[in-house]
Amino acid sequence: MERITIRFKVNGEDAIVAVAPHWNLLRVLREELELTGAKEGCGAGECGACTVLVNGRAVNACLYPAVEADGAEVTTVEGLAGPGGELHPIQRAFVEKGAVQCGFCTPGMVLSAKALLDRVPLPSEEEIRTALAGNLCRCTGYAQIIEAVQAAAEELSR
Ligand code: FES
Ligand code: FES
Repeated sequence: MERITIRFKVNGEDAIVAVAPHWNLLRVLREELELTGAKEGCGAGECGACTVLVNGRAVNACLYPAVEADGAEVTTVEGLAGPGGELHPIQRAFVEKGAVQCGFCTPGMVLSAKALLDRVPLPSEEEIRTALAGNLCRCTGYAQIIEAVQAAAEELSR
C-alpha cells in the first residue's frame, strides 16, 4: 500500500514515519513510535483516552489523521515528566488527590488539563469541567480529578 512520509516532533524529538493514508495518529504513536501512554478506548472520539496535544491543542488521536501531523509538535504523556523522571505538577496532583484508579483515562485527562492550564492558568471549576468533558472516567467519579486540576493550577501559578 502507498505510504506517505510525515515528519513531526514528538515530545521535542524529531520523528519520521511512513504512514498509510488511512492511519490515525494514535496508531503511529502507539505502534510505530512505541509511545503507549495514549490509550485506545472507544476508537470513535467518545472517551478521550487517546488524547494528546497537537500544537498545544488537545485532540482525539484516534480520529486525527496521521498525515495531518506532518510538521506538527505533538506531546504525549511520556513528554510531561521532567528530565530526571520527576512527575509533572499535574501528574503529581492526580496522584496526591487520588484521581487515579485504574489509570486508563489518566494520560488523556492529564493532557486535556495541560491544554487548559496552558491557556487559562487559574480556571474556574466550570472551565475545568468543560475542558475535561470529552474525557470519560469509569472509576473516580470526577470529583478528585477536578480537585487535582485545581491543585495543579495553584501550584503552577505560584
Ligand atoms: S479512543 Fe479516542 S476518543 Fe476514545
Ligand atoms: S481511573 Fe479508571 S477510567 Fe479513570
